[in-house]
Amino acid sequence: MQRRKLGRTNLEVPVVCFGAWAIGGWYWGGSDDRAAVDALRAALDAGMNAFDTAPVYGFGHSERVIGDALRGSRERVVLMTKVGLRWDDPRGPVFFESLDNHNRPVTVRRNLRPDSVRFEVEQSAKRMGVDVLDLVQIHWPDPETPLAETLGALIELRKAGRLREIGVSNFTPALLDEAQRILGSVPLACTQERYSALSRGIERDVLPWAREHHVGTLAYSPIEQGLLTGKLVPERKLADTDQRLAKAKFSAENRARLNARLEAVVGPIAKARGATIAQVVIAATVAQPGLTCALVGARNAAQVRDNAKAGELALDAAEVAAVWNGLAHFAFDGTGIVGRVLKKLGLSR
Ligand SMILES: NC(=O)c1ccc[n+]([C@@H]2O[C@H](COP(=O)([O-])OP(=O)(O)OC[C@H]3O[C@@H](n4cnc5c(N)ncnc54)[C@H](OP(=O)(O)O)[C@@H]3O)[C@@H](O)[C@H]2O)c1
Repeated sequence: MQRRKLGRTNLEVPVVCFGAWAIGGWYWGGSDDRAAVDALRAALDAGMNAFDTAPVYGFGHSERVIGDALRGSRERVVLMTKVGLRWDDPRGPVFFESLDNHNRPVTVRRNLRPDSVRFEVEQSAKRMGVDVLDLVQIHWPDPETPLAETLGALIELRKAGRLREIGVSNFTPALLDEAQRILGSVPLACTQERYSALSRGIERDVLPWAREHHVGTLAYSPIEQGLLTGKLVPERKLADTDQRLAKAKFSAENRARLNARLEAVVGPIAKARGATIAQVVIAATVAQPGLTCALVGARNAAQVRDNAKAGELALDAAEVAAVWNGLAHFAFDGTGIVGRVLKKLGLSR
């Protein structure tokens, strides 16, 4: 497994990290804790020893499962979590409404108030059974709380030895500049952004910014929540509560069209390399300039083993370009503005 330094910090992470959202269950139509524990241990065995989670992933569940699975391995793991999305505090602007793992309604709010940040860091450490968190990231900006107050609280927690490094997520370059200014001599470890062969927006702004400032960049949803593996066949039924179902890009037609494109573009490279489609797509992603690592979600050990091998697959420049250019202009039906309006009017699937 290739490894890289995270920005200017002393943290080192594998190029393929474990994304622990799906094992929280919420959004993903539930989860199987036994399979999740196997997946987490398989990740550690494969050198995929950095785990990205958040309190909101299953409303504490993802962090608890990580704590259970990795107990006794603290020295070998890098624990990366987040602050700023609360479902258990009435303060802050509403981010979204949802149902929790027991089908009870929840309101998730943005809240980066200093007292909330301190509370969340304590709770995350407790759920994962550790004294120190390796990386704490601001999950989403909170328009009601000055960034200086939030970062001030995180700097204090760092001084107190409760966390090693500070990162952010879903930030614009302007906010990244502001964060760096406020942090002063404390390094901004990383920003975590949506990035895949089909979601390349950050190539215009965040990636060049991060390269210039030596800040790490973590790609989230790098395989488009399963779509870029080629294994999400049209016939596969997702659970009724799996929220991917509500997205037009997961329609049977879109899956079929994307799988055909993957077969044509990625298939020959995968075949030549004795690799899977997922491995080639992940390897091409982590080869992009400025990217530190991909956070790849998995629900079982087989998926983890498949994904981890991508961290050992060194594609040449022509192969990387073939994947990136071959998928560049793929567009899902029904996902543009017209598709969204039709969906609102009940005129599309
Ligand atoms: N900062 C943020 O705002 C933010 C937002 C989103 C995600 N994230 C982070 O990024 C991580 C990854 O993103 P993500 O979870 O959205 O999606 P992802 O990594 O693009 O996709 C994960 C899903 O793909 C399927 N999959 C994984 N490996 C596979 C394989 N080898 N073969 C076939 N299917 C496979 C699994 O779903 P099925 O088995 O159900 O098909 C899995 O749950 C998250 O876990 C989280 O840590 C952060």
